[in-house]
Amino acid sequence: MDKLNYSDDLAANIPSQTATISSARFTVETVLSLRYWTPNLLSCRTSRDPNFRFTPGHYARLGLQSKKDNVIWRPFSVVSSKVDGYLEFIATLIPNGEFSDPLSNIREGDTIQVDKASYGFMTIDGFAPGKDLWLLATGTGLGPFLSILRDAITWNAFENIVLVHSVRYAVELAYRDEIQAIIQDHLLETLPARLRYIPVVTREFLPDMSPARIPQLIEDGRLEIAANLKFDLKRSRIMVCGNPEIIRELRGLFTARGFQTNRRAAPGQLAFENYWLNKP
Ligand SMILES: Cc1cc2nc3c(=O)[nH]c(=O)nc-3n(C[C@H](O)[C@H](O)[C@H](O)COP(=O)(O)OP(=O)(O)OC[C@H]3O[C@@H](n4cnc5c(N)ncnc54)[C@H](O)[C@@H]3O)c2cc1C
Ligand SMILES: NC(=O)c1ccc[n+]([C@@H]2O[C@H](COP(=O)([O-])OP(=O)(O)OC[C@H]3O[C@@H](n4cnc5c(N)ncnc54)[C@H](OP(=O)(O)O)[C@@H]3O)[C@@H](O)[C@H]2O)c1
Repeated sequence: MDKLNYSDDLAANIPSQTATISSARFTVETVLSLRYWTPNLLSCRTSRDPNFRFTPGHYARLGLQSKKDNVIWRPFSVVSSKVDGYLEFIATLIPNGEFSDPLSNIREGDTIQVDKASYGFMTIDGFAPGKDLWLLATGTGLGPFLSILRDAITWNAFENIVLVHSVRYAVELAYRDEIQAIIQDHLLETLPARLRYIPVVTREFLPDMSPARIPQLIEDGRLEIAANLKFDLKRSRIMVCGNPEIIRELRGLFTARGFQTNRRAAPGQLAFENYWLNKP
């Protein structure tokens, strides 16, 4: 991600002649760059059609040609900001995954199909007004939170923002430098909110970091201590994104404390994005 850009001038950020082909449902975009965090975790930046609009927290549907000559479509959260002239995604490569297979062979200059619409409900406008925004991510669930963090609306809506990212191994803590840069960015000095970044590594012992999972850190109070902030029904607005099992656990944990999931007709304090279905 490039430097924070709070300008609303999307048109000025998109180079001309980006999308090569446009059908009724999708545009064909070009892969501009790839960044491998590990052999199974990559970020992919593509061109962006000037008409592709999204709210931070939304996902796009991406299509890649499979070996069987059909196009495989999968949802991917947008990592880049709503005003960047490109789209960025972060993806885990799943062994033998139908979409992961063609994705693992992708190169700069290749094409990728992008559905013209963006989707999702995990956006800050779904919440009842609050003071503290908690962004709890596992793995690639970090992605939409980066887009949310790169939107000035977020910084004006909250006093405190806490970003918690749980990964198996420290090398999977993607975008660490960018997150530190957001914290240090002088632009934010003029905005009201403060960001705390709490990385969680579960399968490796690191100094000053316990290998506990997020629900355990919440239950025993360690997350609140690390964030120097309490979970509070009036103040806290909580987003959880990634592994469906943590979503199930945290939905139970927070609803037992009186928090309610956002509904279209009734804004609440919780929003979730499940990245796959639990196996029965
Ligand atoms: C709303 C939404 C947004 C999503 N955004 C992203 C995103 O930003 N980045 C991303 O990598 N994936 C994201 N996914 C998952 C993505 O759509 C694909 O499922 C994933 O790329 C694997 O596709 P596949 O066809 O290779 O395997 P699938 O057949 O789709 O999945 C096989 C199995 O892989 C595991 N799996 C799938 N996705 C992940 C993941 N992200 N992390 C860890 N394990 C996983 C699950 O056990 C799943 O059952 C999102 C899914 C949804 C529903
Ligand atoms: N070498 C490989 O082939 C390879 C390597 C990496 C990933 N993968 C694939 O990628 C997938 C895993 O990707 P991932 O590591 O990004 O996602 P993940 O399994 O969801 O793990 C990401 C983080 O979420 C935590 N977590 C998982 N379930 C949780 C729960 N119920 N409550 C709280 N925290 C929870 C994990 O902790 P824990 O560590 O405690 O589970 C980890 O810190 C696998 O399905 C695998 O297919 C493959």
